[in-house]
Amino acid sequence: MAKVHIFDTTLRDGEQVPGCKLNQNQKIKLARQLDRLGVDILEAGFPISSPGDFSSVQAIAETVKNSIVCGLSRAVKKDIEVAAEALKKAKRPRIHTGIGTSDNHIKYKFRTTPDVVLERVHECVSYAKTFVEDVEFYAEDAGRTSNEFLAKACQIAVNAGATVLNIPDTTGYCLPHEYGEKIAYLVANVTGLEHVHISTHCHNDLGLATANSIYGVINGAQQIECTINGIGERAGNTSLEECVMILHQHKELGFYTDIKTQLLLETSKMVSEEMGMVVQPNKAIVGTNAFAHSSGIHQDGVIKERSTYEIIDPAEVGVDKSSIVLTARSGRAALAFRLKEIGFDVTKLELDALYDRFLQLADVKKEIDTDDLHFLIESKEEIYAE
Ligand code: KIV
Ligand code: ZN
Repeated sequence: MAKVHIFDTTLRDGEQVPGCKLNQNQKIKLARQLDRLGVDILEAGFPISSPGDFSSVQAIAETVKNSIVCGLSRAVKKDIEVAAEALKKAKRPRIHTGIGTSDNHIKYKFRTTPDVVLERVHECVSYAKTFVEDVEFYAEDAGRTSNEFLAKACQIAVNAGATVLNIPDTTGYCLPHEYGEKIAYLVANVTGLEHVHISTHCHNDLGLATANSIYGVINGAQQIECTINGIGERAGNTSLEECVMILHQHKELGFYTDIKTQLLLETSKMVSEEMGMVVQPNKAIVGTNAFAHSSGIHQDGVIKERSTYEIIDPAEVGVDKSSIVLTARSGRAALAFRLKEIGFDVTKLELDALYDRFLQLADVKKEIDTDDLHFLIESKEEIYAE
């Protein structure tokens, strides 16, 4: 089994969500939780971006005990100096530096030539190396960069001492097989990768961030950049919990992570609360409906044997147990199961009578809760008299 390193960027790329700014105390609280969760690398922020971010990165660097603490910079000397300063007290500091490599970035953002960009790759990585040993190079918009030019930029970064090559699909444009081929191309065409990791960094504009990251790993990447709940600008980043559980459930792929999966739900809730950003109910792994069953056929199956309709044991991701939600689509098995859960063991005859009344109520209510069940039980005599 090969280890996949989890690089969490909830506090940097994730925090770029409009209206979800965190204060320093909130960032420290989340950094501690991410460290507990077992992320290998924690991107704490973009120190040059504001005095507040500088100070948060500094505080996180002092606080975090296990994870590598990383700070972002552009391919600009001042950015790199400020990132190095903010990371000074980190046990294991990493500078993340780089530049856009796609035609679009070169032509419109930098208004320069490919050769100048390649020079800047060399300059930023070698300058960051004068401050820390661990330097990650990113090629922004790698997803829309030709594989040939990307390999050139990556080769220069490796020769300058980069320890990680980050291949962002910044605009979430790639299809899974294209992104996988890109990683495979780099593995085959960049030399000196023996001690260098390749990293995925996928955005979710087409809903493909998780699939692309997994294809990246299958094709040779050893690190995934992701955020809790998949938060991030626009449609967000790759979701940490999805990637971790895909690798965990599909052991035949041959990968593992060091994430303590039982802390996933707790961490998701904490991020959601601190950021004031609701998790969609049907979100894979951590959504409130991820382990809820409401149709009669599924409920009957799950009651008989959980794995009939669940591929993950809820306890593995920190969910107490799957839930049987009573609706007008529920059957007798689900009603009997829920009644038993709250302490009422009913006979078949009683159940038949209760079920009719249950359906009448369920047709006018979205969901039948515990209070409603007590009400049904209390009116049992009346029901039998009917
Ligand atoms: O999406 C992206 O390209 C990034 C880089 C700055 C790493 O977030
Ligand atoms: Zn990004």
